[in-house]
Amino acid sequence: MKTIAPIKGMKEWVAFLRTKGLTLGLVPTMGALHQGHVSLIRRAREENDKVILGIFVNPIQFDKEKDLLSYPRDIEKDKELASREGVDIIFAPSVEEIYPKGFSTFVEEEDLTERLCGEHRPGHFRGVTTVVTKLLNIISPDRAYFGLKDLQQSHVIKKMVRDLNMNVEVVVLPTVRDKDGLALSSRNQHLSRTERQTALSIYKALIRARELFASGETNSCEILQEMHGILHKAGIFQIDYTSVVDPETLEELEEARPDAVVALACWVGNTRLIDNMGLSETTSLKERLPALSSLEREAHA
Ligand code: PAF
Repeated sequence: MKTIAPIKGMKEWVAFLRTKGLTLGLVPTMGALHQGHVSLIRRAREENDKVILGIFVNPIQFDKEKDLLSYPRDIEKDKELASREGVDIIFAPSVEEIYPKGFSTFVEEEDLTERLCGEHRPGHFRGVTTVVTKLLNIISPDRAYFGLKDLQQSHVIKKMVRDLNMNVEVVVLPTVRDKDGLALSSRNQHLSRTERQTALSIYKALIRARELFASGETNSCEILQEMHGILHKAGIFQIDYTSVVDPETLEELEEARPDAVVALACWVGNTRLIDNMGLSETTSLKERLPALSSLEREAHA
């Protein structure tokens, strides 16, 4: 496995691999890898000849300086995991090279980004779409892989790729959860033991929404009120949003439908967590766990 930092070096490798007629899969990440990233890497390996893992903590997608500075970083651990998972190249460019002095060109999606996280994190999605465009331009992969936990991000990237006629297939894979239901996220590393326990109420609230819908409740207000009750009881009061949304447009739905998704963002201590679930999603955690490899089961143990 190679680790490449210079953009020129990365482009040369891509050109070389292309002369051999090989297909390329890109898994863009900000590092602090977990089993959610592993599922993306594994799928990329199945579908492409070579897998490139992007590791770049993108400063322009953070709306708070403190959040950027405290974002978990452990490149050595990431390299170990990537090598174990058969990644061919890690592309870990420097901030100075990605955003050289005088950088002034940004990519912005203007519809989907108005809702949910977009309302609470000014500039966040502009940062994401800009850096993803740059990575796609540098690597020109056949496929790029993203996790559904970042529901809005994956929609925004798909939209950008469609609107700008980018030559890449965007592959979005299901959220990977810990055995108790907590959605895996690099940010979970910030949670104390007690906070992690508190954070479980996010999963409980989503499950409750699903249960209510299954029992015939279609009034989104009622569903969201119960979710708030669960979060409050656990001690979560700083809730950016809870919303029942259309799975494609992400527009808020007053009346829940079988294809609707319930999404939420809230703060547990100083950590902002997001999660979502389809209201008719049927796969239970128990059903998903046996499908995991022994390595993943270790991580869940
Ligand atoms: O999901 C992430 O880790 C980041 O938002 C991404 C897509 C790598 C862009 O920095």
